[in-house]
Amino acid sequence: MRNDNELNMSGMSRSCRFLSTEPTGSDGSSKVEEAETVNVPPPPSEKLLVFGGNGFVGSHVCKEALERGLLVASISRSGKSSINEAWTDRVSWHQGNLFSPETIKDALDGVTSVISCVGGFGSNSYMYKINGTANMNAIKAAAEKGMLF
Ligand SMILES: NC(=O)c1ccc[n+]([C@@H]2O[C@H](COP(=O)([O-])OP(=O)(O)OC[C@H]3O[C@@H](n4cnc5c(N)ncnc54)[C@H](OP(=O)(O)O)[C@@H]3O)[C@@H](O)[C@H]2O)c1
Repeated sequence: MRNDNELNMSGMSRSCRFLSTEPTGSDGSSKVEEAETVNVPPPPSEKLLVFGGNGFVGSHVCKEALERGLLVASISRSGKSSINEAWTDRVSWHQGNLFSPETIKDALDGVTSVISCVGGFGSNSYMYKINGTANMNAIKAAAEKGMLF
């Protein structure tokens, strides 16, 4: 028979029963004051790397992925987002440049999926570089780690 104080770890979630006690009576014995059942979600097993996660589109992708229970990392040249919201503390911010492939390798460790939000508008040559070559480099880096883009 299961003890009330025992952690119930079954399937994909854990149920924890928190008990609060305080001394009562002259003999110093304790009594249960309150019990609350809290469902603790399992630790995330999927880690998403967002290329350009500190940009306009990328920051929305990071926030949404966190809300869906993923571990989230971002890589961009400037690193951490300037957005002052609590969810940004839950993102692993990396600095790297898609035109220097060696600077993005470490951020791919432990990652299970990637998405790129790197891009922009400008001259044809600029857009060819940022929308084309930069993202080709992201695809190559992800493929080298065995990931589908
Ligand atoms: N904004 C919109 O409403 C909208 C709507 C539809 C589609 N889009 C498309 O979505 C894409 C992103 O747009 P956005 O508005 O989110 O742009 P953005 O805010 O300028 O974001 C671009 C991201 O790319 C990163 N980046 C740029 N060069 C990089 C490099 N060499 N290496 C690594 N990271 C680099 C930037 O970070 P760092 O500067 O720190 O490197 C930033 O995180 C574009 O293709 C755009 O056309 C945007």
